[in-house]
Amino acid sequence: MTEDPSRPTAFVLAAGLGTRMRSRTCKVLHTAAGKPLLALVLDTVAAAGADAVVVLSRESEAARAAVPEGVPVAVQDPPLGTGDAVRVALDAAPGAAGRCYIVYGDTVLVRPETLRHLGGLLDERRAVLAILTGKVGTDNAYGRIVRGPAGDVDRIVEVRLASAEERAIPESNFGAYAADVAWLRSAVPLLAANETGEVFLTDLVAVATREGRTVAALCVEDPAEGLGVNTRADLAIADGILRRRIRLRHMEAGVTFVDPDSSLVDATVEIAPDVVVERGCVLEGRTRIGTGTRVGPYAILRDTAVGEGCRVEASVLEGATLEDGVRIGPFSHLRPGAYLERGVEMGNFGEVKASRLGAGTKMHHFSYVGDASVGRGVNIGAGTITLNYDGVHKNRTDIGDDAFIGSDTLLRAPVKVGRGATTGAGAVVTRDVPEDTVAVGMPARAIKKYVRPRKDAGPERR
Ligand code: UD1
Ligand code: CA
Repeated sequence: MTEDPSRPTAFVLAAGLGTRMRSRTCKVLHTAAGKPLLALVLDTVAAAGADAVVVLSRESEAARAAVPEGVPVAVQDPPLGTGDAVRVALDAAPGAAGRCYIVYGDTVLVRPETLRHLGGLLDERRAVLAILTGKVGTDNAYGRIVRGPAGDVDRIVEVRLASAEERAIPESNFGAYAADVAWLRSAVPLLAANETGEVFLTDLVAVATREGRTVAALCVEDPAEGLGVNTRADLAIADGILRRRIRLRHMEAGVTFVDPDSSLVDATVEIAPDVVVERGCVLEGRTRIGTGTRVGPYAILRDTAVGEGCRVEASVLEGATLEDGVRIGPFSHLRPGAYLERGVEMGNFGEVKASRLGAGTKMHHFSYVGDASVGRGVNIGAGTITLNYDGVHKNRTDIGDDAFIGSDTLLRAPVKVGRGATTGAGAVVTRDVPEDTVAVGMPARAIKKYVRPRKDAGPERR
């Protein structure tokens, strides 16, 4: 319930059936910019400084998954219309007082500042209700705003029930409201079911005018703010607009986008200033990118943390972590649990899963490293493969610092390669290789002790 009495309550209506989506998934769980529609609306009301109360139905019960802990949910059963949904919401929020917002779970593009502006109109105009409107032509299913002779809002008529004359009214109901809670409690019971059998929230306007109360209207320029997602086509439009806003927000914060429209960034992604996002990138989920990093062209990053000054080109990274100065790609695949320490280099056709690669390790061509722990300064030759799966268990491979894994080495896990050890080209390593030892052949045998001269490091490394 509302803890701070000065904070408005926001009633979020999401009990509708969403039939027009033609989906098994309830409408408000469909995603735009990587987030469920309901979560986007809850973000908006939170940003407007309001405490949400969500209305769901049996049909939209699954949407509870998108409601954060602590946000109350009321169940409207059966859903008898938007007016009935507000009745249910008010019953579930006995403590709500002062002002409230009413928003629809499918209207994801309304801005927090617009809601605050609507709330402000209640005081400015001494109104009991403020409605959001816009002029978006007449080829749509929005309710029409009927004004009286003096220009005051008189009522809203739904297109389904409108006369031809009313349908020609260019001002539409965008579907966001601010109201005085005490008045709302008195007015909602006066709403009656109409000939469609539904109780329309929009009829509140007529209730107010009948009582001689003022209804304020905020007519906004941006048609996006009124977009209610009813169909898959609406969903695609909302997704595109949200993503454009997200890119603009990042650009304002110091991120460069090369060909911005070619990249898709989820609402949940964090990008530091002075990151360059080249053309054709898809940045999803809990991805975070550190300053000075360049991603793309053509990189897909999902739930991946990238450090500072990295380079990620034409690769797919999922659930991975990169420390600073890591170079990836082109054509690498990092899978969940890949952890690449500072300065790791990974080139074409490499795959790493559930493995840690130590600082400065290089894996430049055609390799698979899974369930492994690889030390620092290791060279992983072309074609190296950890045989981590024996058909039943996943087994671990351990490679010590400064080891040199020859091209085409097969490492049959569980197995350990000691610090500074070398494997010959084509070695099939089935037993542990001691440190500073060369092992060759199939199965690989240790043939001699050998400390490789290092080309780049001083004696303190060993
Ligand atoms: C509604 C408005 C319309 C406005 C449009 C803007 C009404 C009667 N009409 O129409 O004037 O132009 O939005 O997008 O309000 N819901 C419930 N319980 C119900 C029915 C609906 O919670 O019993 C929820 C839905 O989940 C949805 C929202 O209310 O999120 C709006 O319902 P919807 O059926 O989409 O209304 P529209 O026909 O789009
Ligand atoms: Ca709608």
